Amino acid sequence: MVLASAPAKVILVGEHFVVENEPAIAVAIDLRAYVTATKRDDDLVFLKSLNLGITDSFRESESVKLREFKPLEVIIRELERRTGSWIGLNIVINSKIPVAAGMGSSAAIAVASTLAISRILGLELSRGEVSSIAYEAEKIVHGKPSGIDNTISTYGGAIVYRKSEGFISLDCNFSGYKLILADSGIPRSTGEMVAKVRRLKSKYPKVMDPLYHSAGRLTIEAARALRDGDFIKLGELMNINHGLLSAIGVSNEKLEQLVYAARKAGALGAKITGAGGGGYIVALASDDIADRVANALKSLSKRVIISSVSKEGARVEQ
Ligand code: PMV
Repeated sequence: MVLASAPAKVILVGEHFVVENEPAIAVAIDLRAYVTATKRDDDLVFLKSLNLGITDSFRESESVKLREFKPLEVIIRELERRTGSWIGLNIVINSKIPVAAGMGSSAAIAVASTLAISRILGLELSRGEVSSIAYEAEKIVHGKPSGIDNTISTYGGAIVYRKSEGFISLDCNFSGYKLILADSGIPRSTGEMVAKVRRLKSKYPKVMDPLYHSAGRLTIEAARALRDGDFIKLGELMNINHGLLSAIGVSNEKLEQLVYAARKAGALGAKITGAGGGGYIVALASDDIADRVANALKSLSKRVIISSVSKEGARVEQ
């Protein structure tokens, strides 16, 4: 049996602006998706999601029946192809990451699955290979994903991403600080929010262009702050980033309430994370203030998570 895990992600700065080729920073957090893989004596591949409460199975000549398992089928076929034979497997998914929350749960499951299944099949893949196989699975879930989610989930830590240039790892040490995540309870669609921002940008290009430029500069400053361990500066930059996200139309009353409650309770910075319009906010606080920030948010949000940045990306647990 092989048990592997991979972390969720949070976008620290730069969402939306990244769509127009400005840089963004994402970090891995210590919420993980776990996948176990065991070999079977027959040629069946049996799949189970403990989170969704669903099971499915397929053989080499068949397909999965449930679309939820299609990404996993893509991963398994690619890995079985690399072994040169077909081996029956039992795969069990157990993820601690909220779904449809902008935290990259599908990517973390894809990455953890790729690692667990490759190991049980005796394949030694590089991190790059794990990430790119998971990316193929992500295409089924998200159409044309940027690749940020599978990358951060595979490598862990923090990365700067720019569409035209790809990813670089950021050397940083988050110890002594926590990220507090709070759910607005409002469902959101990344695609719709991206389209909304695009409309505003094409209506007011002269007004919006400087905001994009500003966001790009902000990400570069935030990368420096992270590298220098200057969390006060990072918090201030997160606050400015939130202002820019409000300006481009992805905030709302509930998100503002959460952001201001976090700041009032002592967070160094607080902002929307991800697409906005709903979903989560992220606040930065020192370890001693994190509980206070979380408690303030709990009066406004049904789901509040205190998390640390995870240095480690995908790993084999046992
Ligand atoms: O889906 P989320 O919440 O992880 O946010 C996606 C980030 C955007 O910048 C809004 C879209 C994108 O493709 O980068």
